[in-house]
Amino acid sequence: MNILDFKKYKAGNKVISMITCYDSWSATIIEESQLDCILVGDSLAMAMHGHDSTLPADTDLMALHIAAVRKGAPTSFIVGDMPFLSFRKGLVPAMETVEKLMKAGANALKLEGIDGHSEIISHIVKSGVPVMGHIGLTPQSVNQLGGYKVQGKTDEKAQQLQKDALALEEAGCFAIVLECVPSSIGKLITEKLTIPTIGIGAGNSCDGQVLVLQDMLGLNNRFQPKFVRTFMEGFDTVKNALNEYDNVVKERSFPSNKESYS
Ligand code: KIV
Repeated sequence: MNILDFKKYKAGNKVISMITCYDSWSATIIEESQLDCILVGDSLAMAMHGHDSTLPADTDLMALHIAAVRKGAPTSFIVGDMPFLSFRKGLVPAMETVEKLMKAGANALKLEGIDGHSEIISHIVKSGVPVMGHIGLTPQSVNQLGGYKVQGKTDEKAQQLQKDALALEEAGCFAIVLECVPSSIGKLITEKLTIPTIGIGAGNSCDGQVLVLQDMLGLNNRFQPKFVRTFMEGFDTVKNALNEYDNVVKERSFPSNKESYS
């Protein structure tokens, strides 16, 4: 997939599949899969580093993970997240982050919200870097939102989301993530835009879907939001494999002669 395909997918009613990825070994599997594109999300602060929010991710950490994913998935379309506050300190620091993340191997960048930084989004786009918007539940604003909650539930908030989506399209975004909004709002925004929407907890009318890899593989046994479907019992599968290894080591049946040098 490349940047031109996003609009083509929407025009042809072809659904976009996106998955998060933060490291090289899982990137090699995704590269071999049918999935359309990869998001190196700042959710890596939680999924990989054990933080309770995405706020601790900074530009260097994002660049490190983008570079690792690029090595494992040399031909995939990779979107990298601009981390917390990296686009709120003025144009020059924002562009320094853009430069680092693009040089690390991203094909496009995603940033949350629009209020107060639409001009920065336009400048990034005009600099030749595709930008993906992100509205609804924007985890970098969790402290202001009062938790990880469904957004756009009142008429006023739903209308604001529609205005923000149109403004992101106007600013030059090539796609928009809609996170945790009622399905009806996901549908309405999807119908209003000419660029694709990629939903996570935004219903099945969006032009595409994104999930966190660890969530959909069932590796995260501490966090099960309503919108996640698990496609594998990853936690128990991995735990059972580890226990099996422990057993064979302790009973001295590993390594066998075949697994040893003569
Ligand atoms: O950081 C992330 O993984 C994201 C997705 C949840 C959309 O922004």
